[in-house]
Amino acid sequence: MEFSTKVAAPEKLVSACIAVGVFEQRKLSATAEALNIASGGRIQALLRSGDMDGRIGTTRLLYNLPGIAAKRLLLIGLGKNKQMSAKDYRDAVRAAVSAVQDTGAAEACLYLACVSVAGHDVTWNARQIALAASDATYRFEQMKSKKTDPRPLARIVSGIESKRDAHAAEQGLAQGQAIAAGVTLARDLGNLPANVCTPAYLAQQAVKLAKSWKLAVRVLERADMEKLGMGSLLSVAKGSRQPPKFIVLRYSGAGKKDRPVVLVGKGITFDTGGISLKPGAEMDEMKFDMCGAASVLGTLRAAAEMKLKLNVVGLIPATENMPGGAASKPGDIVTSMSGQTIEILNTDAEGRLILCDALTYAERFEPQAVVDIATLTGACVIALGHVCSGLFSNNPKLARDLLASGEEAWDRAWELPLWDEYQEQLKSNFADFANIGGRPAGSVTAACFLSRFTKKLDWAHLDIAGTAWRSGKEKGSTGRPVPLLTAFLMKRASR
Ligand code: BES
Ligand code: MN
Ligand code: ZN
Repeated sequence: MEFSTKVAAPEKLVSACIAVGVFEQRKLSATAEALNIASGGRIQALLRSGDMDGRIGTTRLLYNLPGIAAKRLLLIGLGKNKQMSAKDYRDAVRAAVSAVQDTGAAEACLYLACVSVAGHDVTWNARQIALAASDATYRFEQMKSKKTDPRPLARIVSGIESKRDAHAAEQGLAQGQAIAAGVTLARDLGNLPANVCTPAYLAQQAVKLAKSWKLAVRVLERADMEKLGMGSLLSVAKGSRQPPKFIVLRYSGAGKKDRPVVLVGKGITFDTGGISLKPGAEMDEMKFDMCGAASVLGTLRAAAEMKLKLNVVGLIPATENMPGGAASKPGDIVTSMSGQTIEILNTDAEGRLILCDALTYAERFEPQAVVDIATLTGACVIALGHVCSGLFSNNPKLARDLLASGEEAWDRAWELPLWDEYQEQLKSNFADFANIGGRPAGSVTAACFLSRFTKKLDWAHLDIAGTAWRSGKEKGSTGRPVPLLTAFLMKRASR
């Protein structure tokens, strides 16, 4: 999808389709009013007929209106004639893009960037347009022998009435496109089956990404991890035929001395549960257990394309979690890179076992902040559903920043407690602590486990078990939380 802006009077714009907003109670946006006058009142006539009531999410398509150069005119419902909420705006833009897609138009001009949205500006609006367009046109067909015909829509123009908004809109479109490309990368990796998307495949993709975007990359092999003493991570890899990989990516957008943000992504390319085997139903969805890793790759891609003035390190511990003769057994005790010993009471709590060594590894970068992203617990889905990600942090300022970034990108998170009372659930009679804390507050005890490896760090943990993919008929990766993470990095880069 290509994006551009155009400053033009809407009635004179030559386009396959122009989209403009109308409000409830037959109120017109400024652009719609101009078109109404140019067409001799055709828009008002339609509204009077009752065929379009202007509610959010509604659209109406008109053809060949007199006095209007564009072939199609799409009316977009913007709700009540007042400042729009961010959610309403996004819903309206999504409806517009999908209605445009249903036409045969190869190109469309949306006059939506200059609508007034509470708490946001033209740049943000334009960003949402690019993101919505990318989302609506996304398809995953890599594994189909026959591809469906591509839809014609290939170019979206953001129509601007006044020159002074042009730069802001252009900037927003470019950012939106970069973020969307990161989201798409994350979605593709998530959607690929586990027989294709192995740890080695993730490493290959990281190397490819590094080549395209001038990132530094290093892939640590099993022997390297042994030398580092990553006994916890390696214990998860033991049951698999696929060799584990530990991916280190570096984007340098600031000076050498600038402390980086480190992103750590859980890269379990398939989670069977190991010897603590999962039940069979929906186990296929455990191919999505590397969506944290995918979001790190997608976010680095977006940061690089936006040339953010910031250093970012991506760390991805990647392995399968399989049962087998060599696999870890419940009761096994392993020594983590930090030196702390762990009793593995459940081999299905493997995410924390690979993340803990990656978090210890993160210390060497003297980061300004570390954020890990993981499809960590089913309990998080029970607590928060599929609406927001779970957030935990040992630093209130960092937590606030991430929550605000989620709000800004409409990829929200909600904070859960990391209180000492919960730490007691991890007590072990045999090792320093156990890898599970029982049924109550399963997401919290998982985060408590991680917190034992982040005492020297400003750290936050995003549990994306409920947000990284959708189940059922719409099954597929969402690319979340790439929008949240990129918003966070953009803010850090500009301070
Ligand atoms: N990858 C899963 C978490 C998960 C399960 C996410 C289902 C989304 C849907 C994770 O490795 C896991 O198995 N966690 C266990 C932890 C338990 C054994 C303490 C869980 O949530 O059941
Ligand atoms: Mn598991
Ligand atoms: Zn898992």
